[in-house]
Amino acid sequence: MKTIIEDAIAYIKQIFENDYSGHDVFHTLRVYKTASNIACKEKADILIVQLASLLHDVDDKKLSPLTYEHKDRTIKFLKSHKVDETTINRICTIIDEVSFAGTDTIIPSSIEGKCVQDADRLDAIGAIGIARAFAYGGSHNRAIYIPNVPPKKDMNKKEYSKHKSTTINHFYEKLFLLKNMMNTQTAKEIAEHRESYMKSYLDEFMAEWNGES
Ligand code: ADP
Ligand code: NI
Repeated sequence: MKTIIEDAIAYIKQIFENDYSGHDVFHTLRVYKTASNIACKEKADILIVQLASLLHDVDDKKLSPLTYEHKDRTIKFLKSHKVDETTINRICTIIDEVSFAGTDTIIPSSIEGKCVQDADRLDAIGAIGIARAFAYGGSHNRAIYIPNVPPKKDMNKKEYSKHKSTTINHFYEKLFLLKNMMNTQTAKEIAEHRESYMKSYLDEFMAEWNGES
């Protein structure tokens, strides 16, 4: 008999099949793997972490606006696998708390939520984070860089969700904020390396832009 995890993996493969906005199935699979590793170190409930990480983007506001509010896809999947109400609520709370929302970002109320949020954020930084940012920018018709448009600081949830920026500005508006927002020691250590890689990437980018390299 197939396990619920195997079924969840098959389900997300089907949902994210044609995504080119940085939310493809491999994003979810990396979050699942990283969150599972962090959960083992943090002694969190592994099944909750695995289900929440696999389902964390299926009702995403940008990807599935019609199911976003009530998490229809998440709940339907879990109910069809006879997951009990309390567990469904725990998973939905994690998904609600996971997203970056500028100065309104939430610290998850459970250790399981902290593991999933850290794993999702780790996937937004480093070499993969750079690739995802430019993929997102391209798919949303954003400029790579416009020198006289400065990044906007300290945006709240509403401002951040409405803001249209260049992809280089996104590094300052979100990506460089993530290291200090990590919840677990394991994620903080990984973030350290990924952030310094992004900094050297931007140094090289600016040097080439200015004809110095
Ligand atoms: P997630 O919660 O999975 O990180 P998001 O929708 O916040 O999902 O972002 C998906 C990816 O696209 C992330 O790597 C993120 O940094 C990137 N991204 C989001 N907004 C922008 C933007 N305005 N410009 C460039 N990249 C962006
Ligand atoms: Ni995600």
